[in-house]
Amino acid sequence: MVRTRHTTVSRRANSTVRPKTDLWWAHRTASLPDMGNPLVARMQGFGTTIFAEMSALALSTGAINLGQGYPDTDGPREMLDAAVEAIRSGRNQYPPGAGVSELLAAIAQHQRRFYGLSVDPAREVLVTAGATEAIAAVVLGLCEPGDEVVTFEPYYDSYAATIALAGAVRRTSALRFPDFAVDEVSLRAAFSSRTRLVLLNTPHNPTGKVFTADELALIARLCREHDVYAVTDEVYEHLVFTDSPAPHIPLAGLPGMLERTLRISSAGKTFSCTGWKVGWATGPAPLVSAVLRVKQFLTFVNAGPLQPAVAVALGLPDSYFDGFRAGLQARRDRLVAGLSDAGFTVLPSAGTYFVTADITPLGGTDGVDFCRELPARCGVVAVPTQVFYDHQEQGRRLIRFAFCKREDVIDEAAKRLRTLA
Ligand SMILES: Cc1ncc(COP(=O)(O)O)c(C=O)c1O
Repeated sequence: MVRTRHTTVSRRANSTVRPKTDLWWAHRTASLPDMGNPLVARMQGFGTTIFAEMSALALSTGAINLGQGYPDTDGPREMLDAAVEAIRSGRNQYPPGAGVSELLAAIAQHQRRFYGLSVDPAREVLVTAGATEAIAAVVLGLCEPGDEVVTFEPYYDSYAATIALAGAVRRTSALRFPDFAVDEVSLRAAFSSRTRLVLLNTPHNPTGKVFTADELALIARLCREHDVYAVTDEVYEHLVFTDSPAPHIPLAGLPGMLERTLRISSAGKTFSCTGWKVGWATGPAPLVSAVLRVKQFLTFVNAGPLQPAVAVALGLPDSYFDGFRAGLQARRDRLVAGLSDAGFTVLPSAGTYFVTADITPLGGTDGVDFCRELPARCGVVAVPTQVFYDHQEQGRRLIRFAFCKREDVIDEAAKRLRTLA
């Protein structure tokens, strides 16, 4: 694929396998006009992510990286063993398009077990390359150019890029500071006759908010009133802490929502295997079939030998899910104590891997500047929350810390942060 004139020409010119007689190629490389930025216009607003910048900063300074949300420990032994066994026993070729049968069954069983939701594994479940591919395939599969997608600010960064790729239009409603409550007036205003779907993330990254029953009822009411689809990103479904004001409630379970909702989740967060990229979408057969139609041309299939291993993980006893959540809650508390001692105003985190801190008491006025300086000041990396906003001023003084790290790492980070006080 031609990416840039320079990289393509030099890579090909050095190639020893391409015969000199390849006149087509000689012509192609010689005559490429200088077309400026080859990237399509709708992606030009999307630069290198702040996560890459902050992770590079962590590497170059040796700071503790609490910027990116990935655990530094492995997932359950049973799951890892099952993956090794699947690789050794030869399950290394393309799996079936929708996913291997035991994972489809395990996803359906998991939904019944935790939420009482019933889906047919043969028609209403699709395995994807992480939740990211599910989100992309849903938006590309359901939205015509010009259709509108309603979502909440701040939002997970892939939403904006995916909506742009589909040629759809993002309409946002900002969660209210400081409790990140849904603002009914702005949410209603985000809907129009062009709305195609609502993209909801609960438990919510980056805020750690868990949407309440009343907020979900409002969203469901608006979806029904405007007759639109709901797409729910529930990758942190098992990470709701015992002091959360609300439990995790799938929107699909609300009256009139099952038939219009696609639920998305992923093994990455629940089973500490973010690099496996095994996700899924479940919902009514026609919706799942539309998503499959797109997925087959994005990745076709993915993670063959990892799929049976995730099936094993989904069937683990309650003690695994409870223990995982309790461990993260304890690490949240240790980090929050360090942040409070350092002088930040710490906002409540009811779930996920993340907690948000307000930098105002420490004299900070801009999260990006603050995060760029933090490694030099105390050897810790965080990410500025404003990058998750369209209206960046709303999150300018907020920064996000991930606490999905080993206890000794969290304790050391908390110790370093205390030196800011
Ligand atoms: C809210 C949210 N959705 C989706 C994803 C992506 O999940 P996956 O790694 O399974 O693609 C993440 C990862 O950080 C996330 O935080």
